[in-house]
Amino acid sequence: MNETGCVRLVCHVALLALLTIGSARASNTLVPSGASAYEPSGFPDRIVALPAADPATGFTVAWRTDVEVTAPLLQIAEALDSPDLADHAREIRARSATLVSENGVARHHHVRLENLEPDTLYAYRVRGRDTWSEWIHHRTAAATARPFSFLYFGDAQNSVKSLYSRVIREAWRRSPRAALALYAGDLVNGRAGENDTEWGEWFDAGGFVHSSVLTVPAPGNHEHDDEERDGRDHYILGKHWPLQFPVPGNGAPGLRHSTYWFDYQGVRFIVLDSTSALKSGTADIQAQWLRGLLERNPNDWTVVMYHHPMFSVSLDRDNPELRDHWLPIFERFGVDLVLQGHDHVYGRGQSVTRESNGGVGPVYVVSVSGPKQYRVSDGARRTMGRHAENTQLYQRVRIDEDMLRYEAWTVTGTLYDAFDLVKAGQGVKRLVERSPSSETRRCPHEQTRSGRKDRCWDGTEW
Ligand SMILES: [Fe+2]
Repeated sequence: MNETGCVRLVCHVALLALLTIGSARASNTLVPSGASAYEPSGFPDRIVALPAADPATGFTVAWRTDVEVTAPLLQIAEALDSPDLADHAREIRARSATLVSENGVARHHHVRLENLEPDTLYAYRVRGRDTWSEWIHHRTAAATARPFSFLYFGDAQNSVKSLYSRVIREAWRRSPRAALALYAGDLVNGRAGENDTEWGEWFDAGGFVHSSVLTVPAPGNHEHDDEERDGRDHYILGKHWPLQFPVPGNGAPGLRHSTYWFDYQGVRFIVLDSTSALKSGTADIQAQWLRGLLERNPNDWTVVMYHHPMFSVSLDRDNPELRDHWLPIFERFGVDLVLQGHDHVYGRGQSVTRESNGGVGPVYVVSVSGPKQYRVSDGARRTMGRHAENTQLYQRVRIDEDMLRYEAWTVTGTLYDAFDLVKAGQGVKRLVERSPSSETRRCPHEQTRSGRKDRCWDGTEW
């Protein structure tokens, strides 16, 4: 082949690659190739409320505009029945940073609200260019233990607007007074979580839920970029994550954007970064940080969340490093509930630990809210109390004094799994099964259209 032929071949391959990327991007969102739906503008969008280190006295608000917004502001007042909110509001200047994406140049703003009153309903709004957002209600946590509910979502990741939006909307209908919404990572799919259109769909899907309740995100592998340095791979958090989700910053050393903790009305919530643990060798650093948090934990309940499962549920997956570094600490300090994703199936199991006097140890949940669906392994079928394929789910968890009530709902409103954790004296904890006796949900066919037998739905719309 002569040089011209070679050049032609290279061009042809490059064009094919571009077309492939273009069509993949189009199929994962509702935005056609070449169109744009989520460009930043003077209107504030992607408004999200995030936990402060102490949710009783503060919370953080982040939002996005275009670059012409040079004086981003937040106003906040105690919520009133009167519409005269602006007359009573105080104003706070935001911190801002620029982010360049395929949708243009954006400014991401955030305000860390402090010195608020506990258990108080506030109204806030954020400013764009010559306009404001709507007034948004958010209640601070009570300063002491108090019953509350939270929602949980496994990976959304694919066709987020098309097929995940119905999950978060059904969850909101079932539990409109939920105080928090937890997300176990892989909120979006694109490389390094830097596909801005996918993020546009994620914020669009949940709408005002993100700005009204506390959004508690853990990063997944799809929010990390793989970078080679010093002859080895390093997984770096994508640029969108810290700008869209300015979490408390009280995490493990070197991981302040992706690990954090806070106490909410008698529950210690801890977010870990399993991608960094598995791919960048930080499992031990996180374990030491985790141990410190659990040694000084005055709360009755502890919930831990991260992306990769301690006990894999789907075929051909295993993360033994997590069991080496984190499991003994979970068991030693009586972690109650462990929320995970990544496997694109549902599975729930619990361990019996010596330290809990024969009572149950941590309950491990893997769930999926989005459409990508894998197959449950034979091992998980034998060991998991409840599992499912081909099912979009969300969870509602209520904590009320000595009881944690867990429910996994399918997107059409069927209770698929449920149990209570009940704490008696001496630290003994019982698990009361409330799971319905419905059939285990299975994938209805042997392989996807792409021919993969380990998957039931492979992430592209049929
Ligand atoms: Fe994942």
